[in-house]
Order: sequence, then structure tokens, then C-alpha cells
Amino acid sequence: METRFDDLDAFVERTADARLDDYLELLRIPSIGTLSENDPDTRAAAHFVADRFASMGFEHAEVSETNGNPIVYADWLHAEGAPTVIVYAHYDVQPVDPLDLWLRPPFDPVVEGGRVFARGAADDKSHVHLHLWAARAWLETRGRLPVNLKIVMEGEEESGSDNFEPWIKAHRERLGADLVLISDTGFYEGNHPAITVGLRGLVYTQIDVTGPRLDVHSGTFGGNVQNPANALATIIARLKNEDGSIAVPGFYDEVRPLTPRDREEFARLPLDENEYVRDYGLHSVFGAPGFSVMERRGARPTLDVNGIWGGFQGDGSKTIIPAHAHAKVSCRLVADMDVDTTFERLREYVLSVAPPGVEVSVTKLNEGRWALTPIDHPATQAAAACLEEVFGEKPFYLREGGSIPAGASFASVLGLPVVLLGFTQPDDQAHAPNESMRLDNLEGGLRTIIRYWQKLADTKL
Ligand code: BES
Ligand code: MN
Ligand code: MN
Repeated sequence: METRFDDLDAFVERTADARLDDYLELLRIPSIGTLSENDPDTRAAAHFVADRFASMGFEHAEVSETNGNPIVYADWLHAEGAPTVIVYAHYDVQPVDPLDLWLRPPFDPVVEGGRVFARGAADDKSHVHLHLWAARAWLETRGRLPVNLKIVMEGEEESGSDNFEPWIKAHRERLGADLVLISDTGFYEGNHPAITVGLRGLVYTQIDVTGPRLDVHSGTFGGNVQNPANALATIIARLKNEDGSIAVPGFYDEVRPLTPRDREEFARLPLDENEYVRDYGLHSVFGAPGFSVMERRGARPTLDVNGIWGGFQGDGSKTIIPAHAHAKVSCRLVADMDVDTTFERLREYVLSVAPPGVEVSVTKLNEGRWALTPIDHPATQAAAACLEEVFGEKPFYLREGGSIPAGASFASVLGLPVVLLGFTQPDDQAHAPNESMRLDNLEGGLRTIIRYWQKLADTKL
């Protein structure tokens, strides 16, 4: 069915100023999901989203409580006979440290060079915002949507979505649908449109090493006690081999090998390694042998120290043996790795390589499962057609290195197909200082989602 979008496109054009104002207002709310001092702001962002959906005519708009930050639910279910789509995004944002590297305050957004700079501008308020306006475009222009929508937007994505799966289990009967659309991913290097078809999982742990009850004099006790910081360094040094591979026994046992077809798909993604190193300020590319950069990012697991501390950190010197030392260590997981198995293997290995004379514990802080979505599903192909129509290029299919725990939860609890469609850019500096969002991607994204609702109504799912 040929459908014209003139009136909807005219709405997009005519509302440019109002849309920008609304987006900036959302960005001014410091909804840092992990910091309890920001809880009132995080809640305010949830209400902002719920109120907007309610006032444009969505029903059952609700800020639904969980054991953590609330989940926003709203629905519009008047497209009889048409598919029902669950729309997912997250309104929480990452912390802003190191604050001194921001050129402008992170919650005082500015528009410069076609980008909006603010924490959350890309990840993920860009998508929260464009779903608000895609629905509004349809409702204000045509008085209806071509599909039924159930909005599910959470506030704990950046901290591991601990309360998300329990929530969808508890609300299973309200969440009947044909498809889940997750908007929390983006385009390929060089701003080429892309559809993400893979996400990695995550196991995030903390290693704590304790020795003497208090810091002790390194002269009086040095040579007679195990030093927790030295012991931690020993443990960490044993986690990986010199070539970058992971030394934990059995770590790779369940990793699904790449098929020749998979490798062809990865080889299609253009990547100039020198440019990559230069653009992101990397020292060089380093990784386990036998795989390309994009294969390592999308289809191979990792083990990384995310932070390490202990002992004296101030200026000058202080002669102590510290009482304790700590590290945050996380692994990205790929098909067909299991979160619990990986955690147990890591824990047992850490304990087995720990030197004597200290106590060592390994605690799991958060987790998420990997997800793969089918390229040839009609809903994926419908998204590809809309991207091509708006951006004038066929999209790449990408397996991403990041994680969205909700993806696997939707698939396993509700048994629904998932499409990952988003419009951010690899150089948006998500999670880093001076995060930004390209306004042309935001507007193109809006036009794409507007078309996608129609395309899904015309597609046999
Ligand atoms: N939007 C990202 C996920 C992402 C990153 C998708 C890169 C595609 C490419 C999401 O907000 C995120 O940062 N997720 C965390 C999840 C973790 C806290 C469980 C991540 O990947 O570190
Ligand atoms: Mn995100
Ligand atoms: Mn994120």
C-alpha cells in the first residue's frame, strides 16, 4: 500500500522549534539513575514522559513502581486488526564525572554545530523524545496511529535493569504484543544507517582483597605480611594472557563459533583501522588474535578491569601496607555464554590464583544476557526499508558490543521478536564527557519511526 507522508512531514517541519524546546526540557532533568541523591530528578523524568503520552491521548499512562526507579507505561490500542508494538527506551542517564572535562554543564544543554550537547542527549533521551513526537505527529495530524502501541520506558538501564524482568513478569498480561521495538542503539561508523542485530551480555563483578585489620607501617611489617594491593595485582595479572585472550579455564567453552556466513557479514562493515585509532584517540588496536575489530566487538567475549583502587592515593609518599584493595572487573558475553556459569568460572579462578595471606571475595554487581535478533524477520526488513527511504542508504546489520538487558528479557519472558532501531552515532561520546546528539539524526529518526508504524501495519508479521 502506497501511503503519502506529506502531512506528517509537514508536522515535523512546522514543529521544529517546539520539538527542540521539549527535548531540551527533558535534557535539563538530571535523571542519573544510579545516584540516590538524584532520585527526585529520575522520578521527574518518568513523570515528564508519562504526562506527555497521557496528554496526547495515550491511555493507562502510569509511573509504575518497582523496587528501584519506576517504569513508565502507556498505551494506545485503537488500531483494530493492526499489530501491537511494545516500544522500549530508557530515561535514566549515566553519571557525569569527570565533570571538569565538560565544556558546558551537562544538564544545561546547548545547540552547537548541528548537535545538542548534554548528558543523555544521545543515550537514551534522543529516543525517548523521538518516540513521543512520532506518536504525537500521527495523533495530531491524522487522529490515529496505524499500529497499537504499548510504551515501556525504564529508569535503570544504565545500572543493569535489575527490576525490569520482575516487572515484565508481573505485568505479563498487559504486555501482549506482536513485536518489541528497542530504541537504544545507533548508526555505524561514518554515520551510516544501521540496524543492530546483536547485543553482548554482561557480568559485572567486584574483587575485594583484605589483609591486616588496619593499614600498617610498611617498615615495621613489610616483609612479614602479604600486601593486599600486591595480591590483587597478582590476581589481575593472571586473568589474561599476553596475547589478549582470557585465561579463565573454560571461559570460551560455550562461545558460538563464527560461521563463514557470519564472517562474510562482518567483513562487509567497512573499517579503516588507522582512522579508527585516530578518531577515538586509541593508542592502537589490541585484541586476541584470529579476529577482526568488528568480530571482536560483536561476537567475542571480553574481560576488563573497569577500576582499581587501594592504599595511598594522595600527593607525596606514605609508607603503609594497605589493609585492603579492590577492583571492578566485568565481562561482555556473547552467544551461547551463560551469565551464572561465567561468573562461577571467574570466581573460582580468582580464588584459585589468589596468593596466600589475604582474604579474597568476588561479588556479582550486575548482569545482562546477550541477544541476537533475526535479520530476515519481516519487522527487521520493514525497518530497513524505512531507514533507506529516509536516509537514502541501505542499512548495515551490526552486532554491537554494548548490552541492553531488557532485550533478552523481552525475548525470553514474552517470547516476542525484538527489533533494535536507533539513531545515535559512535562518536556521540555516550557515557563520556560532552555527550551529544546530531539534530539531523534526531529528525531523520523521527521521520523513520513515523514511517515504520505505517510500514508495520502494511507488513505481514
Ligand atoms: N545504549 C547502551 C547500549 C549500547 C551500547 C548499545 C553500545 C549499542 C552500542 C546502553 O545504555 C548501555 O550503556 N548499556 C550498558 C548496560 C549495562 C549497565 C548492563 C552497557 O552496555 O554498558
Ligand atoms: Mn542506552
Ligand atoms: Mn548507556
